[in-house]
Amino acid sequence: MKTIRAGLVGITGYAGMELARLLAGHPSIRLVMACSRAEAGKRLGEYYPFLENLPGADVVISVFAPEDVAKQCDLAFLAVPAGTAMDMTPPLLAAGVKVVDFSADFRLRKAETYENWYSHAHNAAEFLDEAAYGIPEIYAEKIARARLVANPGCYPTSAILGLYAALQNDLVVTDDIVIDAKSGVTGAGRKAVVPMLYCEVSDNFRAYGLPRHRHTPEIEQEISRIAGHDVRLSFNTHLVPMNRGILSTIYTKLKNPHTSLERVREIFCSTWKDHPWVRVLPSGVLPETRHVRGSMFCDMALVLDPRTDRLIILSVIDNLCRGAAGQALANANLMCGFALKTGLGMAPLA
Ligand SMILES: NC(=O)c1ccc[n+]([C@@H]2O[C@H](COP(=O)([O-])OP(=O)(O)OC[C@H]3O[C@@H](n4cnc5c(N)ncnc54)[C@H](OP(=O)(O)O)[C@@H]3O)[C@@H](O)[C@H]2O)c1
Repeated sequence: MKTIRAGLVGITGYAGMELARLLAGHPSIRLVMACSRAEAGKRLGEYYPFLENLPGADVVISVFAPEDVAKQCDLAFLAVPAGTAMDMTPPLLAAGVKVVDFSADFRLRKAETYENWYSHAHNAAEFLDEAAYGIPEIYAEKIARARLVANPGCYPTSAILGLYAALQNDLVVTDDIVIDAKSGVTGAGRKAVVPMLYCEVSDNFRAYGLPRHRHTPEIEQEISRIAGHDVRLSFNTHLVPMNRGILSTIYTKLKNPHTSLERVREIFCSTWKDHPWVRVLPSGVLPETRHVRGSMFCDMALVLDPRTDRLIILSVIDNLCRGAAGQALANANLMCGFALKTGLGMAPLA
């Protein structure tokens, strides 16, 4: 089997850390370069003791330079903030390096939507059309042909997977969707800022970002694409004092109030039957973040409230694995011609 040489920019962040962990167990994608400005010069095994004696430990962290990546890598993972990846990507693509971008820079189809929600200009808008949106269960063919994949946001991954079967099968009305989502603290990244300090987060529960969380246009864009028409929805986010995990409670209204829970379950199970990373739980069982921790699983529960005709969908993922690094690796597998699950067969860290 061929070996792909991978570079990882943003190695010191939470998403980069998770990808380094996953790459250490991948049989065919080898980490040959890891970039950070703050930690350049350190051996990876020294910076991340959990990597010692594993593949990648001897890589020396360097400062990103596109010409170095082009010389040493076939593929680059950009686990850097929005606004950064758009400058890094064009020279890499021009040099023939495939790119999986973790940031929002290539997720939105329209530059003006990006500029409106991210408050800075988009200077690589010519790549927006070609970038594949990286949810492998839905867009595998386009991802496999792509040289640039926009890895989805963590909240959007849980929302889109949660709603996909209901929209595909026309089960719910689309003008009354509310996504009430909660995330662990690694979702905010590793930079040191006061609101994320231990004493600010622990023993506390708070909402944030209402009503303009940056993932809103991404969710609306993808939900509209699945529904086949423009959808506006409510998306509200909360910070939970735990390290990782996302639980989205999605409130929808059934189109036909006589649809039974059994029928809804049948439709969800048949939609996802060929995609074992999506687990539709048995009736009466509700998903928990610990059951998907460190894995590619999305656990889903369906609740029907006959008093309000609401179908409530609960969708749970691990933000760092399914919502970032694991999904990026799944996309890289497809882009490189490997089986989707290569290196990703692990059970959750329950
Ligand atoms: N955390 C999550 O759950 C999650 C989920 C899905 C997607 N994402 C996305 O993944 C990306 C990384 O997220 P994260 O949570 O890992 O962030 P993070 O913990 O804040 O790490 C950011 C990384 O990017 C590097 N970086 C920052 N500014 C840079 C610049 N101007 N040039 C080059 N490198 C720079 C940092 O290293 P140096 O400062 O040392 O260079 C660091 O390694 C973001 O776009 C985020 O939105 C994160």
